[in-house]
Amino acid sequence: MDVIVECEHVTKKYGDLVAVNDVSFKVEEGEIFGLVGPNGAGKTTLIEMIEGLMIPDSGSIKALGLNPARQGRELKEKIGVLLQTTSIQPDIKVKEALTLFASFYEHAHENTSELLHTLVLEDKADSRFKKLSGGQKQRVAIALALVNDPKILFLDELTTGLDPQARRNMWELIENIRTQGKTIFLTTHYMEEAEKLCDRVGIIDYGKIITLDTPGNLLDNLSADSKVTFNVENKDIDTSTFEAIGAVSRVEKVDERFILYTKDENVTLQELIRLSDTQKFKLTDLRTESPNLDDVFLAVTGREMRE
Ligand SMILES: Nc1ncnc2c1ncn2[C@@H]1O[C@H](COP(=O)(O)OP(=O)(O)OP(=O)(O)O)[C@@H](O)[C@H]1O
Ligand SMILES: [Mg+2]
Repeated sequence: MDVIVECEHVTKKYGDLVAVNDVSFKVEEGEIFGLVGPNGAGKTTLIEMIEGLMIPDSGSIKALGLNPARQGRELKEKIGVLLQTTSIQPDIKVKEALTLFASFYEHAHENTSELLHTLVLEDKADSRFKKLSGGQKQRVAIALALVNDPKILFLDELTTGLDPQARRNMWELIENIRTQGKTIFLTTHYMEEAEKLCDRVGIIDYGKIITLDTPGNLLDNLSADSKVTFNVENKDIDTSTFEAIGAVSRVEKVDERFILYTKDENVTLQELIRLSDTQKFKLTDLRTESPNLDDVFLAVTGREMRE
């Protein structure tokens, strides 16, 4: 795999505030790479330095083999950028916006209808931007970022403000764009988005990347327990009944609800059902919860991601 972005010891300050603090990492061609972190973590500052829109105070950045601070013009031709806040003229029609943006580039996509197809906007070509839904506006912004057929697409806060369904649809679109041979570099403050969509995730907090790996490895290294939760009807059962299950490391009872912590959900569920059978009690509202990237954030920062 070729390295497409490389940051080495990159730092950026605003006065006394260190927004990006000695950050080093690489992005490989063809991957969906995500920077995830809370508000003010430094995501926009970092992504905009890679895009050549901001200049680092120290450290070095290479994007597509270019130095964004010194070769910004050349870089701009080859990358696609979705800014955190896009400003598109409200009265412009979608197809006019595509033609306008294409005119900014030496080599632009000749087939804008293909772009409209990729972004599921075929029937919106003649709509004015202001008449579109939030999800549609965001898809137009992505289509505009793709007019120069970039090798890498930068997406800052891709799905902020979208409802859960629109967010999931967006993930599918991004997967499709990657399949067309593009690298995706995105930022998000949704841990679920990072987990479901990204091949590798860098968790950023107070300007530092504190951990970076595939979602699977981040979760494995956490080695946190899953939770099995349920209520018991028709019988008084003591927590000790469940502490006896070999795979269970800890049992809590919150109000009437039991919470079993375990590394092996399957064994725990099997044992639990066997117990309910032999001891004649009824399990209701039985659920399992696996650890997720929110738990990883908590483990590496000591804080909840949602402050
Ligand atoms: N132009 C600026 N002048 C001064 N401080 C700034 C400026 N831009 C950002 N900051 C500060 O730098 C830090 C990082 O900001 P940045 O926008 O990079 O964070 P972010 O991770 O993108 O946050 P969000 O999730 O809210 O978009 C924040 O503390 C922010 O207040
Ligand atoms: Mg931001």
